[in-house]
Amino acid sequence: MFDLTGRVAVVTGAGQNVGEGIARLLAQRGAAVAVNDLFAERAEGVAEGIAQEGGKALSAPFDVTDPEAVGTGMAHVAEQLGPVDILVNNAGVPPGMGVTPFREMDPGEWSKYVDLNLYGVLHCTRAVIEGMCERNWGRIVTVSSGAGQTGLNLGISLYGAGKGAAISFMRHFAMEVAGQGVTANTVALGLIDNHRDPTVTAAMARQVPVGRTGQAADIAPSVLFLVSEEASWITGQILGVNGGNLML
Ligand SMILES: NC(=O)c1ccc[n+]([C@@H]2O[C@H](COP(=O)([O-])OP(=O)(O)OC[C@H]3O[C@@H](n4cnc5c(N)ncnc54)[C@H](O)[C@@H]3O)[C@@H](O)[C@H]2O)c1
Repeated sequence: MFDLTGRVAVVTGAGQNVGEGIARLLAQRGAAVAVNDLFAERAEGVAEGIAQEGGKALSAPFDVTDPEAVGTGMAHVAEQLGPVDILVNNAGVPPGMGVTPFREMDPGEWSKYVDLNLYGVLHCTRAVIEGMCERNWGRIVTVSSGAGQTGLNLGISLYGAGKGAAISFMRHFAMEVAGQGVTANTVALGLIDNHRDPTVTAAMARQVPVGRTGQAADIAPSVLFLVSEEASWITGQILGVNGGNLML
């Protein structure tokens, strides 16, 4: 079950944390994985780590918000690994993301959240969808957030807007390609602990019904399931991976 042997996967923003965990698990299940990141050294480090574990990986650094770079990068992946069967749109935190209430935000700050979380998803999806439809098989998973599903008083309204836009796109898009063997689903994450400060971690954990924050390792299995052959009858869905933090 959940064997990806012979499949080619691209995971965006896979140079660390959640994306790295996804790339590593897909490679362990037999996929050849293109490790994308904005920062080449991060992508290279993860790709090397996968190769050392005996997996097949390619470092594929490019900016998902730049349509030309996405086109060139995806073409390189196809040349080196073969046609892309699986796309995981994971990149979603713009470098230097802060928390600022909308009223205090400069309009010049808005676009980076929408560019990454909506346009990044659109560019990458567009670059791989024709091939998937021609081959009548494809899996697209977008990593979104509870912030795209509900209101949070955390100063992340533009981030939430980008995350919500991607969720809505994935639903409509799933309808359009369902007849061509392509599924399109979303995983909406809860609080993932990227902090090293135990006080912050403990405060975050108290908000999660299962009593702890998420780790990268908690996310990857849900993505593996959705990109597998076995999940061919699941499309247009949003899977909450959040320790019970948001129950819809
Ligand atoms: N961390 C959380 O608490 C949390 C919660 C809910 C959802 N998420 C979502 O999970 C996903 C992964 O989050 P994370 O915490 O692992 O993020 P992270 O910031 O730790 O890692 C994301 C990676 O994406 C890369 N990246 C950023 N912009 C890029 C671009 N334009 N092109 C290519 N790569 C780019 C970064 O360089 C970074 O290495 C994101 O979509 C995020 O929105 C995270």
